[in-house]
Amino acid sequence: MSRILSGIQSSGQLHLGNYCGAIRQFLDLQAQGHEMFVFVATYHALTAMRDPLALRASCRQMVVDYLAFGLDPAQTSIYVQHDVPEVTELAWLLACVCPTSLMDKAVSYKDKVGKGFSANVGLYTYPILQAADILAPAADVVPVGKDQVQHIEITRDLAGRFNSEFNADVFKLPTHRLAPDAELLPGVDGEKMSKSYGNTIDPFMDEKPLRKRIMGIKTDSKQVNDVKDPQTCTIFRLFRAIAGVNDPRTRDLADKYLDPSKQGPDGFGYGHAKQALFDLVLTHFAEPRARRAGLMADQGYIDEVLKQGAAKARGAARITVDRARHAVGL
Ligand code: TYM
Repeated sequence: MSRILSGIQSSGQLHLGNYCGAIRQFLDLQAQGHEMFVFVATYHALTAMRDPLALRASCRQMVVDYLAFGLDPAQTSIYVQHDVPEVTELAWLLACVCPTSLMDKAVSYKDKVGKGFSANVGLYTYPILQAADILAPAADVVPVGKDQVQHIEITRDLAGRFNSEFNADVFKLPTHRLAPDAELLPGVDGEKMSKSYGNTIDPFMDEKPLRKRIMGIKTDSKQVNDVKDPQTCTIFRLFRAIAGVNDPRTRDLADKYLDPSKQGPDGFGYGHAKQALFDLVLTHFAEPRARRAGLMADQGYIDEVLKQGAAKARGAARITVDRARHAVGL
């Protein structure tokens, strides 16, 4: 059995990309019986957020949603990053072995600055804090989407540097894990689905706005009887990611794209595909959607889950931080 760790930034509502890239892996690994640490990355969100009420609300909502998706606190320690101060202490120790050139190469920073986000030092050194998240409880495996792979490589790099510069065996080197058939999910505009780009689809949305959101997905201008390319279509890619590449419903949808005239007098247009995606989201997420309301009403339970999760994470992190302190001479 392995020790698994991952986190998601509380910079907005969880979306289909987070689910397909990360949360579904958490559920699979939990079902396999691994020891799990799953947290809400509040300090990472703070690199861009300036609204305390929104940060507090989305942090809380994310914990509720983890539970609604099926994370089980009996097996998965669920906590918020700012409840584990050992992590920020460790981030400093790692910063002291991190060459600035390693941060210069981080694509997430370059992407965000390229998209017009202001370049604060927190955003620049973000991968160091992420390395501390992972190394503090000595995780073996980090399940993430493709866009995070470089951060896990940076984590390995920092762990290796620390061990060698202080000639101590403090950190074990973690590996990343991608979902089978992992791809980065596109948002409604066809760009990568991301909380910071305003193009997400939230699986917990009420039916009416959810339908509107899905009906608003951008497509090309092919008509109902035109042959369409499923591989380049955002609707199809979202459908495939949720249902699965080998699911008969996915193959059926691809057939309809390729042979719309066989589907009867109305052909098969993007409106039909969007309706199929809407129906799929409702059925696939029926249980989490139903569970969520009950969880929201039980804030005392959420507090208890977070208290226990933080205690477990702090216990594991303290051991690592004490070893790291000792290694550097503190
Ligand atoms: P974040 O909050 O951007 O995303 C959380 C998880 O969702 C995955 N993901 C996607 N997967 C597929 N398609 C998409 N469009 C998509 N968008 C997001 C991400 O790959 C990620 O797995 N830096 C991290 C948070 C973090 C973390 C950590 C993760 C902080 N410390 C330690 C793992 C371990 C982040 O910003 O993820």
